[in-house]
Amino acid sequence: MKSKNDIVMVSAVRTPFSKFESVMKDIPSIDLGVMVMKEVIARVGVKPEEVEEINYGTCVLPEVALELDVPARQASLLAGFPAENISLTMDRACCSSLTALRLGVLAIRAGEVETAMSVGSDNMSRTPHMAPGLRWAKRLGHIRLVDPLFELGYTAKGFRPLAVDAGEVALEYAVTREMQDAWAAMSHERYTKADGEGKFKIGEELMPVVIPQKKGEPIVVEKDESPRRTSIEALAKLKPVYGSPTVTPGNAPPLSAGSSAILFMTRKKAEERGLKPLATIVATLPTATAPRYIASIPGITIQKILAKAGLKIDDMKIIEINEAFAAMPLVSTKILADGDEKKWKGLQDRTNVNGGAIAIGHPVGASAGRITMTLAYELRRRGGGYGVASICGGLAQGEGVILKVD
Ligand SMILES: CC(C)(COP(=O)(O)OP(=O)(O)OC[C@H]1O[C@@H](n2cnc3c(N)ncnc32)[C@H](O)[C@@H]1OP(=O)(O)O)[C@@H](O)C(=O)NCCC(=O)NCCS
Repeated sequence: MKSKNDIVMVSAVRTPFSKFESVMKDIPSIDLGVMVMKEVIARVGVKPEEVEEINYGTCVLPEVALELDVPARQASLLAGFPAENISLTMDRACCSSLTALRLGVLAIRAGEVETAMSVGSDNMSRTPHMAPGLRWAKRLGHIRLVDPLFELGYTAKGFRPLAVDAGEVALEYAVTREMQDAWAAMSHERYTKADGEGKFKIGEELMPVVIPQKKGEPIVVEKDESPRRTSIEALAKLKPVYGSPTVTPGNAPPLSAGSSAILFMTRKKAEERGLKPLATIVATLPTATAPRYIASIPGITIQKILAKAGLKIDDMKIIEINEAFAAMPLVSTKILADGDEKKWKGLQDRTNVNGGAIAIGHPVGASAGRITMTLAYELRRRGGGYGVASICGGLAQGEGVILKVD
């Protein structure tokens, strides 16, 4: 039953996701954020002053620190939003842009605002090396540089690399290296097929990134840069990273740059403005579990959010589970299948139907927004229905969203 109080997405856009060493490597993540923030309102003719709250997720903090702090505030001013606009920067690791959406939903439900925007942005390629202690420069001795991207974990505080936790827990669930490589190959194949069918054309999910050059024409990035031709044989030859039993550069997503933004409001407001909803936001939910079980948190999140919404996994036409590694969709769908092998296969067929982060890339703070809009656009192509998206974040945090397209 539709209600005027429903919260509906009315616009959703992202940049193409870049490769690690690409033409996008020098663009500050704040600037990538500005691009999607302008585009997401321009597409539907909403004025900056109509957006009352902007929540902005980012999680490569050393890169953001190159512009000091409060990226949400900087980006909203640079994008032309009024000085009175309320914005918030948040870091819930890879969950961040769905956390940003959830907080906007809560603000609307609380009656504080009618229109909100969630943004996610990161440029991993631009992450600087850090030189701790340099301020009090050594009288004698070497200066140590720290690479915040190395080992993908929180090892400085005694936690283990994510690749180790995810790989070990995958094996506990009998999700083998071979299965993870097969999933990775499938991610590239599905993306290539979907792209061939025009699902990643500019004007829907994607907007171009225009990079002015000192001389000559600007460079225009219109495509995700990471999808590649691959094979199970080539994937099998790759060595695991960071001591993981199974995670390799082939069944992990690449390091990426990119941003995503979603504009949402009450159905009442959308109707007043004459805007056609892309999807109704049925439920949102944060979760967390023990850090070691990061590969299972999307599955746990989907179980919990379905219970909250009074729905079943079989009600979901399609599913998005972020491919932090191939282990995540495999372990999580296995949890959802609850020991039923046939059901597990069926869930895999409905999960990440256009490919996932392994092919597309994973600019960490932007990916949760990406899977949410991918879900909405694909549900529309399939004539509507329910879908669920879930993502894991550092040290086994989770975030989920259920959408309905009429
Ligand atoms: C895994 C990771 C460390 C690999 O980094 P990298 O070594 O710079 O990766 P590369 O792209 O250079 O790949 C390494 C090799 O594997 C090869 N390779 C990667 N994907 C491949 C594929 N699908 N098929 C065949 N070969 C592949 C590359 O060609 C490269 O080969 P080369 O050394 O002969 O050139 C890095 O991508 C990473 O950190 N990813 C995860 C990001 C992350 O943290 N996400 C968040 C998780 S919550």
